[in-house]
Amino acid sequence: MAQKYLITSALPYVNNILHIGHLVGCLLPSDVYARFCRAMGRDVLYIGGSDEHGTPSEVGALKENIPVEEYVDKYRAKHLDAVRDFKLSFDLYGRTHTKTHEKLIHELFERLDSQGMITEKASMQPYSVNEKKFLADRYVVGTCPRCGYDHAYGNECDKCSASLDPDELINPHSATDPTSPVEMRETKHLYFKLSAMQDKLRAWINSRKGWPKTATAIANKWLDEGLRDNPITRDLKWGIPVNKPGYEDKVFYVWFDAPWGYVSISQAATDDWASWWKNPDCHYTEFMAKDNISFHSIFFPAYELAMNDNWKTVDTLKGQNFLNFNGAKVSKSTGNGIFLDDALSIAPSDCWRYALIASAPETDDVDFTTTRFAEIVNKDLNGLLGNFVSRVCKLTEKNFGLNVPKTNGIDGELAKQINEKIAELTAALDACEFRKSIAALRGIYSIANEYMTAHEPWALIKNGDMDAAAAVLNECFQMIDLFARVSAPVMPDTAEKIQNIFGGKHDLSWPTKYEHRIENGETFVVPDNLFTRIDDATVADINERFTAK
Ligand code: 2FM
Ligand code: ZN
Repeated sequence: MAQKYLITSALPYVNNILHIGHLVGCLLPSDVYARFCRAMGRDVLYIGGSDEHGTPSEVGALKENIPVEEYVDKYRAKHLDAVRDFKLSFDLYGRTHTKTHEKLIHELFERLDSQGMITEKASMQPYSVNEKKFLADRYVVGTCPRCGYDHAYGNECDKCSASLDPDELINPHSATDPTSPVEMRETKHLYFKLSAMQDKLRAWINSRKGWPKTATAIANKWLDEGLRDNPITRDLKWGIPVNKPGYEDKVFYVWFDAPWGYVSISQAATDDWASWWKNPDCHYTEFMAKDNISFHSIFFPAYELAMNDNWKTVDTLKGQNFLNFNGAKVSKSTGNGIFLDDALSIAPSDCWRYALIASAPETDDVDFTTTRFAEIVNKDLNGLLGNFVSRVCKLTEKNFGLNVPKTNGIDGELAKQINEKIAELTAALDACEFRKSIAALRGIYSIANEYMTAHEPWALIKNGDMDAAAAVLNECFQMIDLFARVSAPVMPDTAEKIQNIFGGKHDLSWPTKYEHRIENGETFVVPDNLFTRIDDATVADINERFTAK
Protein backbone atom coordinates (compact mmCIF):
# COMPACT_ATOMS: atom_id res chain seq x y z
CA MET A 1 0.00 0.00 0.00
CA ALA A 2 1.28 3.49 -0.82
CA GLN A 3 2.75 5.48 2.05
CA LYS A 4 0.35 8.10 3.45
CA TYR A 5 1.38 11.75 3.31
CA LEU A 6 -0.61 14.40 5.14
CA ILE A 7 0.15 17.95 3.99
CA THR A 8 -1.38 21.10 5.44
CA SER A 9 -1.01 24.75 4.54
CA ALA A 10 -1.69 27.38 7.24
CA LEU A 11 -5.27 28.63 7.11
CA PRO A 12 -5.18 32.37 6.30
CA TYR A 13 -7.55 34.72 8.09
CA VAL A 14 -10.27 35.89 5.76
CA ASN A 15 -9.80 39.57 6.54
CA ASN A 16 -8.01 40.67 3.40
CA ILE A 17 -6.98 39.70 -0.11
CA LEU A 18 -4.11 37.23 -0.26
CA HIS A 19 -0.74 38.46 -1.52
CA ILE A 20 2.58 37.06 -2.74
CA GLY A 21 3.70 36.63 0.90
CA HIS A 22 0.89 34.13 1.46
CA LEU A 23 1.80 32.37 -1.77
CA VAL A 24 5.45 31.96 -0.90
CA GLY A 25 4.89 31.43 2.84
CA CYS A 26 2.68 28.37 2.69
CA LEU A 27 0.35 28.03 -0.31
CA LEU A 28 2.93 27.39 -3.03
CA PRO A 29 5.49 25.31 -1.13
CA SER A 30 2.73 23.04 0.12
CA ASP A 31 1.21 22.72 -3.36
CA VAL A 32 4.56 21.98 -5.02
CA TYR A 33 5.26 19.34 -2.39
CA ALA A 34 1.77 17.81 -2.70
CA ARG A 35 2.06 17.62 -6.48
CA PHE A 36 5.52 16.07 -6.18
CA CYS A 37 4.29 13.47 -3.68
CA ARG A 38 1.34 12.54 -5.89
CA ALA A 39 3.63 12.22 -8.93
CA MET A 40 5.77 9.85 -6.81
CA GLY A 41 2.70 7.66 -6.28
CA ARG A 42 2.25 8.56 -2.59
CA ASP A 43 -1.17 8.59 -0.97
CA VAL A 44 -1.63 12.31 -0.30
CA LEU A 45 -4.21 14.24 1.70
CA TYR A 46 -3.58 17.94 1.07
CA ILE A 47 -5.64 20.32 3.19
CA GLY A 48 -6.04 24.09 3.33
CA GLY A 49 -8.79 26.55 4.04
CA SER A 50 -10.00 29.69 5.71
CA ASP A 51 -9.46 30.57 9.37
CA GLU A 52 -12.77 32.35 9.92
CA HIS A 53 -12.94 32.94 13.65
CA GLY A 54 -11.14 35.32 15.93
CA THR A 55 -10.94 39.06 16.15
CA PRO A 56 -9.42 39.58 12.66
CA SER A 57 -12.84 38.75 11.11
CA GLU A 58 -14.87 40.48 13.80
CA VAL A 59 -12.88 43.73 13.77
CA GLY A 60 -12.80 43.70 9.94
CA ALA A 61 -16.58 43.26 9.73
CA LEU A 62 -17.13 46.13 12.16
CA LYS A 63 -14.92 48.38 10.06
CA GLU A 64 -16.88 47.53 6.90
CA ASN A 65 -20.12 47.72 8.85
CA ILE A 66 -21.46 44.36 7.69
CA PRO A 67 -22.37 41.16 9.60
CA VAL A 68 -19.36 38.91 10.32
CA GLU A 69 -20.81 35.99 8.30
CA GLU A 70 -21.19 38.23 5.26
CA TYR A 71 -17.69 39.64 5.73
CA VAL A 72 -16.15 36.17 6.03
CA ASP A 73 -17.99 34.93 2.92
CA LYS A 74 -16.88 37.98 0.96
CA TYR A 75 -13.16 37.47 1.62
CA ARG A 76 -13.34 33.70 1.45
CA ALA A 77 -14.73 34.02 -2.10
CA LYS A 78 -11.66 36.07 -3.04
CA HIS A 79 -9.35 33.49 -1.45
CA LEU A 80 -11.10 30.75 -3.44
CA ASP A 81 -10.45 32.73 -6.63
CA ALA A 82 -6.75 32.74 -5.76
CA VAL A 83 -6.79 29.00 -5.06
CA ARG A 84 -8.27 28.47 -8.54
CA ASP A 85 -6.06 31.02 -10.34
CA PHE A 86 -2.79 29.80 -8.84
CA LYS A 87 -3.67 26.13 -9.42
CA LEU A 88 -3.45 25.14 -5.76
CA SER A 89 -4.36 21.47 -5.80
CA PHE A 90 -5.94 21.11 -2.34
CA ASP A 91 -8.03 18.01 -1.79
CA LEU A 92 -10.25 20.48 -0.01
CA TYR A 93 -9.90 24.19 0.66
CA GLY A 94 -12.33 24.24 3.54
CA ARG A 95 -13.29 26.64 6.31
CA THR A 96 -13.57 26.70 10.08
CA HIS A 97 -17.05 28.19 10.58
CA THR A 98 -18.81 24.85 10.07
CA LYS A 99 -20.86 22.45 12.17
CA THR A 100 -18.25 19.71 11.59
CA HIS A 101 -15.59 21.97 13.05
CA GLU A 102 -17.71 23.02 16.03
CA LYS A 103 -18.58 19.39 16.84
CA LEU A 104 -14.90 18.41 16.68
CA ILE A 105 -13.79 21.28 18.93
CA HIS A 106 -16.46 20.40 21.49
CA GLU A 107 -15.36 16.76 21.54
CA LEU A 108 -11.69 17.72 21.81
CA PHE A 109 -12.32 20.16 24.62
CA GLU A 110 -14.23 17.50 26.57
CA ARG A 111 -11.35 15.11 26.03
CA LEU A 112 -8.79 17.63 27.31
CA ASP A 113 -11.00 18.40 30.28
CA SER A 114 -11.39 14.69 31.06
CA GLN A 115 -7.59 14.34 30.96
CA GLY A 116 -7.38 16.99 33.70
CA MET A 117 -5.68 19.45 31.36
CA ILE A 118 -8.11 22.36 31.78
CA THR A 119 -8.22 24.79 34.66
CA GLU A 120 -10.21 27.94 35.42
CA LYS A 121 -8.65 31.24 36.42
CA ALA A 122 -9.84 34.77 37.03
CA SER A 123 -7.72 37.51 35.48
CA MET A 124 -7.78 41.23 34.82
CA GLN A 125 -8.58 42.04 31.20
CA PRO A 126 -8.96 45.35 29.33
CA TYR A 127 -12.58 46.52 29.27
CA SER A 128 -13.93 49.25 26.98
CA VAL A 129 -16.22 51.38 29.11
CA ASN A 130 -18.17 53.02 26.25
CA GLU A 131 -18.57 49.79 24.28
CA LYS A 132 -19.37 47.83 27.47
CA LYS A 133 -17.22 44.87 26.52
CA PHE A 134 -13.92 43.15 27.20
CA LEU A 135 -11.32 43.78 24.54
CA ALA A 136 -9.87 40.49 23.38
CA ASP A 137 -6.84 40.02 21.12
CA ARG A 138 -7.05 42.41 18.15
CA TYR A 139 -9.76 44.50 19.77
CA VAL A 140 -7.08 46.04 21.94
CA VAL A 141 -4.17 47.94 20.46
CA GLY A 142 -1.21 49.49 22.23
CA THR A 143 2.56 49.75 22.41
CA CYS A 144 4.52 46.49 22.42
CA PRO A 145 6.46 46.14 25.70
CA ARG A 146 9.20 44.20 23.85
CA CYS A 147 9.96 46.26 20.72
CA GLY A 148 8.04 49.52 21.19
CA TYR A 149 5.86 49.06 18.07
CA ASP A 150 2.81 51.25 18.64
CA HIS A 151 0.24 49.03 16.92
CA ALA A 152 0.71 45.75 18.77
CA TYR A 153 -2.39 43.67 19.53
CA GLY A 154 -3.50 42.24 22.86
CA ASN A 155 -2.32 38.75 21.90
CA GLU A 156 0.66 39.34 19.60
CA CYS A 157 2.95 41.93 18.11
CA ASP A 158 3.12 41.80 14.31
CA LYS A 159 6.46 43.59 14.32
CA CYS A 160 8.55 41.38 16.65
CA SER A 161 6.22 38.32 16.66
CA ALA A 162 6.06 38.38 20.48
CA SER A 163 3.13 36.59 22.02
CA LEU A 164 1.53 39.02 24.47
CA ASP A 165 -1.03 39.13 27.24
CA PRO A 166 -3.39 42.11 26.89
CA ASP A 167 -2.36 43.53 30.28
CA GLU A 168 1.23 43.86 29.01
CA LEU A 169 0.34 46.46 26.35
CA ILE A 170 1.44 50.02 27.07
CA ASN A 171 -1.31 52.65 26.53
CA PRO A 172 -4.00 50.13 25.55
CA HIS A 173 -7.01 51.42 23.62
CA SER A 174 -9.94 49.92 21.78
CA ALA A 175 -9.42 49.19 18.08
CA THR A 176 -13.08 49.92 17.39
CA ASP A 177 -13.56 52.99 19.60
CA PRO A 178 -10.22 54.69 20.31
CA THR A 179 -11.97 57.39 22.38
CA SER A 180 -13.42 54.93 24.89
CA PRO A 181 -11.71 54.74 28.30
CA VAL A 182 -10.13 51.34 28.86
CA GLU A 183 -9.89 49.90 32.35
CA MET A 184 -8.83 46.51 33.71
CA ARG A 185 -11.74 44.40 35.00
CA GLU A 186 -11.89 40.88 36.32
CA THR A 187 -13.21 38.04 34.17
CA LYS A 188 -12.75 34.27 34.33
CA HIS A 189 -11.35 32.08 31.61
CA LEU A 190 -10.43 28.48 30.91
CA TYR A 191 -6.74 27.71 30.65
CA PHE A 192 -4.92 24.81 29.07
CA LYS A 193 -2.24 23.45 31.42
CA LEU A 194 0.59 24.01 28.98
CA SER A 195 3.12 24.12 31.82
CA ALA A 196 2.46 20.42 32.46
CA MET A 197 3.56 19.62 28.90
CA GLN A 198 7.06 21.12 29.15
CA ASP A 199 9.05 17.85 29.32
CA LYS A 200 6.88 15.89 26.94
CA LEU A 201 7.06 18.69 24.39
CA ARG A 202 10.83 19.05 24.71
CA ALA A 203 11.28 15.33 24.03
CA TRP A 204 8.86 15.54 21.13
CA ILE A 205 10.67 18.53 19.56
CA ASN A 206 14.01 16.75 19.95
CA SER A 207 12.62 13.80 18.02
CA ARG A 208 11.63 15.93 14.98
CA LYS A 209 13.87 16.05 11.89
CA GLY A 210 14.23 18.32 8.87
CA TRP A 211 12.84 21.49 10.44
CA PRO A 212 14.39 24.78 9.28
CA LYS A 213 16.67 26.43 11.83
CA THR A 214 14.22 29.29 12.40
CA ALA A 215 11.46 26.84 13.39
CA THR A 216 13.59 24.86 15.84
CA ALA A 217 14.98 28.08 17.33
CA ILE A 218 11.49 29.52 17.92
CA ALA A 219 10.24 26.29 19.52
CA ASN A 220 13.29 25.99 21.77
CA LYS A 221 13.04 29.63 22.84
CA TRP A 222 9.52 28.97 24.14
CA LEU A 223 10.68 25.88 26.00
CA ASP A 224 13.76 27.62 27.41
CA GLU A 225 11.62 30.46 28.75
CA GLY A 226 9.32 27.91 30.42
CA LEU A 227 5.80 27.18 29.23
CA ARG A 228 2.93 28.94 31.00
CA ASP A 229 -0.70 27.82 31.10
CA ASN A 230 -2.55 29.54 28.25
CA PRO A 231 -6.07 30.94 28.19
CA ILE A 232 -8.19 29.19 25.56
CA THR A 233 -11.44 31.18 25.92
CA ARG A 234 -12.36 34.76 25.06
CA ASP A 235 -15.12 37.26 25.88
CA LEU A 236 -16.39 37.41 22.31
CA LYS A 237 -19.51 36.44 20.39
CA TRP A 238 -17.96 35.28 17.12
CA GLY A 239 -16.32 31.88 17.35
CA ILE A 240 -16.95 28.39 18.67
CA PRO A 241 -19.18 28.59 21.78
CA VAL A 242 -17.62 27.10 24.90
CA ASN A 243 -19.33 23.86 25.91
CA LYS A 244 -18.98 24.28 29.65
CA PRO A 245 -21.59 25.58 32.11
CA GLY A 246 -20.77 29.11 33.22
CA TYR A 247 -19.10 29.94 29.88
CA GLU A 248 -22.23 30.44 27.78
CA ASP A 249 -21.27 33.99 26.76
CA LYS A 250 -17.70 33.11 25.72
CA VAL A 251 -16.03 31.46 22.75
CA PHE A 252 -12.83 29.49 22.29
CA TYR A 253 -9.68 31.43 21.39
CA VAL A 254 -9.12 31.32 17.62
CA TRP A 255 -5.69 29.73 17.99
CA PHE A 256 -7.31 26.94 20.03
CA ASP A 257 -9.78 26.09 17.28
CA ALA A 258 -7.92 27.01 14.06
CA PRO A 259 -5.24 24.29 13.88
CA TRP A 260 -7.94 21.68 14.43
CA GLY A 261 -9.38 23.06 11.20
CA TYR A 262 -6.82 20.83 9.49
CA VAL A 263 -8.69 17.86 11.02
CA SER A 264 -12.27 19.08 10.52
CA ILE A 265 -11.50 20.01 6.90
CA SER A 266 -9.99 16.53 6.44
CA GLN A 267 -13.22 15.12 7.87
CA ALA A 268 -15.18 17.13 5.34
CA ALA A 269 -12.83 16.00 2.56
CA THR A 270 -12.90 12.25 3.14
CA ASP A 271 -14.57 9.62 5.32
CA ASP A 272 -11.14 8.00 5.46
CA TRP A 273 -9.60 10.98 7.33
CA ALA A 274 -8.49 8.87 10.31
CA SER A 275 -6.17 6.82 8.11
CA TRP A 276 -4.00 9.96 8.00
CA TRP A 277 -4.76 11.57 11.35
CA LYS A 278 -4.64 8.49 13.57
CA ASN A 279 -1.91 6.67 11.69
CA PRO A 280 1.59 6.69 13.24
CA ASP A 281 3.10 5.62 9.89
CA CYS A 282 1.67 8.59 8.03
CA HIS A 283 4.16 11.38 7.28
CA TYR A 284 2.81 14.82 8.20
CA THR A 285 4.27 18.07 6.83
CA GLU A 286 2.95 21.50 7.80
CA PHE A 287 3.65 24.70 5.84
CA MET A 288 3.42 28.17 7.32
CA ALA A 289 5.15 31.54 7.66
CA LYS A 290 7.41 32.47 10.57
CA ASP A 291 4.71 34.20 12.63
CA ASN A 292 2.74 30.93 12.86
CA ILE A 293 5.60 28.74 14.05
CA SER A 294 5.01 28.92 17.81
CA PHE A 295 1.37 27.90 17.41
CA HIS A 296 2.33 24.87 15.32
CA SER A 297 5.47 23.83 17.18
CA ILE A 298 4.25 24.38 20.76
CA PHE A 299 0.52 24.93 21.23
CA PHE A 300 -1.08 22.63 18.65
CA PRO A 301 1.21 19.63 19.35
CA ALA A 302 0.75 20.23 23.08
CA TYR A 303 -3.04 19.96 22.68
CA GLU A 304 -2.64 16.87 20.51
CA LEU A 305 -0.25 15.10 22.88
CA ALA A 306 -2.32 16.04 25.92
CA MET A 307 -5.35 14.27 24.43
CA ASN A 308 -3.56 10.89 24.70
CA ASP A 309 -5.62 9.78 21.77
CA ASN A 310 -3.07 8.97 19.04
CA TRP A 311 -3.40 12.20 17.15
CA LYS A 312 -0.85 12.54 14.37
CA THR A 313 1.59 15.32 15.24
CA VAL A 314 3.65 17.14 12.66
CA ASP A 315 6.81 15.39 11.46
CA THR A 316 8.24 18.11 9.25
CA LEU A 317 7.38 21.73 10.03
CA LYS A 318 8.32 24.03 7.18
CA GLY A 319 8.22 27.60 8.42
CA GLN A 320 9.27 30.22 5.88
CA ASN A 321 10.73 33.59 6.77
CA PHE A 322 9.12 36.76 5.45
CA LEU A 323 9.09 38.02 1.86
CA ASN A 324 9.30 41.77 1.36
CA PHE A 325 8.59 43.48 -1.95
CA ASN A 326 10.88 46.14 -3.43
CA GLY A 327 12.44 46.80 -0.04
CA ALA A 328 9.34 47.09 2.15
CA LYS A 329 6.77 44.92 3.91
CA VAL A 330 3.84 43.78 1.77
CA SER A 331 0.89 45.79 3.04
CA LYS A 332 -2.50 46.79 1.71
CA SER A 333 -2.54 49.98 3.74
CA THR A 334 0.78 51.28 2.36
CA GLY A 335 0.00 49.92 -1.12
CA ASN A 336 3.21 47.93 -1.25
CA GLY A 337 3.30 44.50 -2.86
CA ILE A 338 1.42 42.35 -5.30
CA PHE A 339 -2.00 41.14 -4.22
CA LEU A 340 -3.35 38.06 -5.90
CA ASP A 341 -6.27 39.79 -7.60
CA ASP A 342 -3.70 41.89 -9.52
CA ALA A 343 -0.93 39.35 -10.04
CA LEU A 344 -2.31 37.65 -13.15
CA SER A 345 -2.65 40.96 -14.98
CA ILE A 346 1.16 41.13 -14.75
CA ALA A 347 2.18 37.57 -15.62
CA PRO A 348 0.59 34.09 -15.76
CA SER A 349 0.36 31.93 -12.68
CA ASP A 350 3.31 29.67 -13.58
CA CYS A 351 5.68 32.65 -13.77
CA TRP A 352 4.73 33.65 -10.21
CA ARG A 353 4.92 30.07 -9.01
CA TYR A 354 8.41 29.51 -10.41
CA ALA A 355 9.83 32.92 -9.51
CA LEU A 356 8.47 32.84 -5.95
CA ILE A 357 9.61 29.28 -5.29
CA ALA A 358 13.03 30.27 -6.68
CA SER A 359 13.04 33.13 -4.13
CA ALA A 360 11.57 31.23 -1.16
CA PRO A 361 12.67 32.83 2.14
CA GLU A 362 13.88 29.49 3.49
CA THR A 363 16.79 30.65 5.61
CA ASP A 364 16.29 34.42 5.93
CA ASP A 365 13.83 37.14 5.00
CA VAL A 366 14.01 37.85 1.27
CA ASP A 367 13.48 41.06 -0.66
CA PHE A 368 11.66 40.11 -3.85
CA THR A 369 12.06 42.87 -6.43
CA THR A 370 10.35 43.48 -9.76
CA THR A 371 13.75 43.44 -11.44
CA ARG A 372 14.51 40.02 -9.98
CA PHE A 373 11.09 38.75 -11.03
CA ALA A 374 11.68 39.90 -14.62
CA GLU A 375 15.18 38.41 -14.63
CA ILE A 376 13.91 34.98 -13.54
CA VAL A 377 11.06 34.97 -16.08
CA ASN A 378 13.27 36.21 -18.92
CA LYS A 379 16.33 34.06 -18.29
CA ASP A 380 15.01 30.79 -16.91
CA LEU A 381 11.52 30.54 -18.29
CA ASN A 382 11.51 32.45 -21.57
CA GLY A 383 15.20 31.84 -22.28
CA LEU A 384 16.17 28.36 -21.15
CA LEU A 385 12.80 26.64 -21.23
CA GLY A 386 10.46 28.42 -23.66
CA ASN A 387 13.00 29.18 -26.40
CA PHE A 388 14.37 25.65 -26.33
CA VAL A 389 10.94 24.12 -26.85
CA SER A 390 10.08 26.57 -29.57
CA ARG A 391 13.38 26.20 -31.47
CA VAL A 392 13.26 22.41 -31.42
CA CYS A 393 9.66 22.27 -32.61
CA LYS A 394 10.09 24.89 -35.33
CA LEU A 395 13.39 23.57 -36.67
CA THR A 396 11.95 20.06 -36.85
CA GLU A 397 8.73 21.15 -38.51
CA LYS A 398 10.66 23.03 -41.19
CA ASN A 399 13.02 20.17 -42.01
CA PHE A 400 11.24 16.96 -41.05
CA GLY A 401 7.53 17.86 -40.79
CA LEU A 402 5.37 17.20 -37.75
CA ASN A 403 6.82 13.81 -36.81
CA VAL A 404 9.55 13.34 -34.24
CA PRO A 405 12.72 12.47 -36.20
CA LYS A 406 14.27 9.03 -35.75
CA THR A 407 17.05 7.98 -33.42
CA ASN A 408 18.92 4.76 -32.75
CA GLY A 409 19.12 5.25 -29.00
CA ILE A 410 19.79 7.40 -25.98
CA ASP A 411 22.94 9.54 -25.63
CA GLY A 412 24.68 7.91 -22.66
CA GLU A 413 26.78 10.91 -21.63
CA LEU A 414 23.76 13.21 -21.74
CA ALA A 415 21.68 10.71 -19.75
CA LYS A 416 24.37 10.60 -17.05
CA GLN A 417 24.39 14.38 -16.67
CA ILE A 418 20.59 14.61 -16.56
CA ASN A 419 20.28 11.73 -14.12
CA GLU A 420 22.49 13.57 -11.63
CA LYS A 421 20.15 16.56 -11.82
CA ILE A 422 17.03 14.40 -11.51
CA ALA A 423 18.50 12.87 -8.35
CA GLU A 424 19.28 16.36 -6.96
CA LEU A 425 15.82 17.62 -7.83
CA THR A 426 14.10 14.61 -6.30
CA ALA A 427 16.09 14.86 -3.08
CA ALA A 428 15.47 18.61 -2.82
CA LEU A 429 11.71 18.30 -3.32
CA ASP A 430 11.51 15.37 -0.95
CA ALA A 431 13.24 17.50 1.70
CA CYS A 432 11.13 20.57 0.78
CA GLU A 433 14.29 22.52 -0.05
CA PHE A 434 12.71 24.67 -2.69
CA ARG A 435 15.54 26.93 -3.80
CA LYS A 436 17.73 23.88 -4.31
CA SER A 437 14.97 22.24 -6.29
CA ILE A 438 14.78 25.23 -8.64
CA ALA A 439 18.56 25.17 -9.08
CA ALA A 440 18.33 21.50 -10.13
CA LEU A 441 15.38 22.16 -12.43
CA ARG A 442 17.21 25.05 -14.07
CA GLY A 443 20.19 22.68 -14.34
CA ILE A 444 18.10 20.30 -16.46
CA TYR A 445 16.98 23.12 -18.77
CA SER A 446 20.61 24.26 -19.08
CA ILE A 447 21.90 20.81 -19.97
CA ALA A 448 19.35 20.63 -22.79
CA ASN A 449 20.40 24.03 -24.13
CA GLU A 450 24.09 23.12 -23.93
CA TYR A 451 23.38 19.87 -25.74
CA MET A 452 21.69 21.68 -28.60
CA THR A 453 24.42 24.32 -28.83
CA ALA A 454 27.13 21.65 -28.85
CA HIS A 455 25.42 19.49 -31.49
CA GLU A 456 24.16 22.28 -33.76
CA PRO A 457 21.34 20.42 -35.52
CA TRP A 458 20.84 23.43 -37.87
CA ALA A 459 24.45 23.05 -39.08
CA LEU A 460 23.99 19.29 -39.58
CA ILE A 461 20.89 20.05 -41.66
CA LYS A 462 22.77 22.66 -43.68
CA ASN A 463 25.50 20.11 -44.39
CA GLY A 464 22.91 17.55 -45.44
CA ASP A 465 23.67 15.20 -42.53
CA MET A 466 19.98 14.50 -41.97
CA ASP A 467 20.35 11.27 -39.92
CA ALA A 468 22.63 12.95 -37.43
CA ALA A 469 20.29 16.00 -37.25
CA ALA A 470 17.34 13.66 -36.71
CA ALA A 471 19.06 11.91 -33.80
CA VAL A 472 19.91 15.22 -32.13
CA LEU A 473 16.39 16.58 -32.55
CA ASN A 474 14.91 13.32 -31.28
CA GLU A 475 17.03 13.66 -28.15
CA CYS A 476 15.75 17.22 -27.77
CA PHE A 477 12.14 16.02 -27.96
CA GLN A 478 12.86 13.40 -25.30
CA MET A 479 14.17 16.21 -23.08
CA ILE A 480 11.06 18.27 -23.80
CA ASP A 481 8.98 15.33 -22.57
CA LEU A 482 11.17 15.21 -19.47
CA PHE A 483 10.66 18.95 -18.93
CA ALA A 484 6.92 18.35 -18.58
CA ARG A 485 7.42 15.76 -15.86
CA VAL A 486 10.05 17.56 -13.80
CA SER A 487 8.42 20.98 -14.13
CA ALA A 488 4.90 19.83 -13.26
CA PRO A 489 5.01 20.33 -9.46
CA VAL A 490 6.15 23.94 -9.86
CA MET A 491 4.50 24.83 -13.18
CA PRO A 492 1.42 22.69 -13.76
CA ASP A 493 0.05 24.77 -16.66
CA THR A 494 3.34 24.71 -18.53
CA ALA A 495 3.65 20.97 -17.95
CA GLU A 496 0.23 20.50 -19.49
CA LYS A 497 1.11 22.67 -22.49
CA ILE A 498 4.24 20.60 -23.06
CA GLN A 499 2.28 17.39 -22.63
CA ASN A 500 -0.09 18.62 -25.34
CA ILE A 501 2.80 18.94 -27.81
CA PHE A 502 2.50 15.12 -27.98
CA GLY A 503 -1.29 15.11 -27.79
CA GLY A 504 -1.34 14.55 -24.02
CA LYS A 505 -0.25 10.94 -24.53
CA HIS A 506 2.52 10.75 -21.95
CA ASP A 507 1.83 10.87 -18.23
CA LEU A 508 3.46 13.23 -15.75
CA SER A 509 4.65 10.55 -13.34
CA TRP A 510 7.87 11.42 -11.54
CA PRO A 511 10.94 10.17 -13.45
CA THR A 512 13.55 8.09 -11.62
CA LYS A 513 15.86 8.54 -14.61
CA TYR A 514 16.07 10.08 -18.05
CA GLU A 515 14.40 7.80 -20.59
CA HIS A 516 13.09 7.87 -24.13
CA ARG A 517 9.30 7.75 -24.08
CA ILE A 518 8.64 9.44 -27.43
CA GLU A 519 8.58 6.97 -30.30
CA ASN A 520 10.33 7.52 -33.61
CA GLY A 521 7.88 9.22 -35.93
CA GLU A 522 5.44 10.21 -33.17
CA THR A 523 3.40 13.26 -34.17
CA PHE A 524 3.76 16.59 -32.43
CA VAL A 525 2.34 20.10 -32.71
CA VAL A 526 4.25 23.35 -32.53
CA PRO A 527 2.98 25.15 -29.43
CA ASP A 528 2.50 28.88 -29.00
CA ASN A 529 5.39 30.49 -27.13
CA LEU A 530 5.31 29.14 -23.58
CA PHE A 531 6.38 32.45 -21.99
CA THR A 532 6.56 36.14 -22.78
CA ARG A 533 9.50 38.34 -21.84
CA ILE A 534 8.91 41.01 -19.20
CA ASP A 535 10.41 44.16 -20.69
CA ASP A 536 11.81 47.23 -18.94
CA ALA A 537 8.64 49.25 -19.52
CA THR A 538 6.59 46.58 -17.72
CA VAL A 539 9.06 46.55 -14.83
CA ALA A 540 8.69 50.31 -14.51
CA ASP A 541 4.90 50.02 -14.66
CA ILE A 542 4.81 47.35 -11.91
CA ASN A 543 7.05 49.50 -9.73
CA GLU A 544 4.82 52.50 -10.28
CA ARG A 545 1.60 50.65 -9.46
CA PHE A 546 2.63 48.33 -6.65
CA THR A 547 5.42 49.97 -4.66
CA ALA A 548 4.84 52.22 -1.66
CA LYS A 549 5.87 55.78 -2.49
O1 2FM B 1 -1.84 33.81 10.51
C1 2FM B 1 -2.93 33.45 10.09
O2 2FM B 1 -3.43 33.92 9.06
C2 2FM B 1 -3.67 32.35 10.83
N1 2FM B 1 -5.06 32.42 10.49
C3 2FM B 1 -3.09 31.00 10.52
C4 2FM B 1 -3.80 29.85 11.15
S1 2FM B 1 -3.03 28.39 10.73
C5 2FM B 1 -3.94 27.17 11.43
F1 2FM B 1 -3.65 26.97 12.63
F2 2FM B 1 -5.16 27.27 11.21
ZN1 ZN C 1 6.90 43.91 19.39
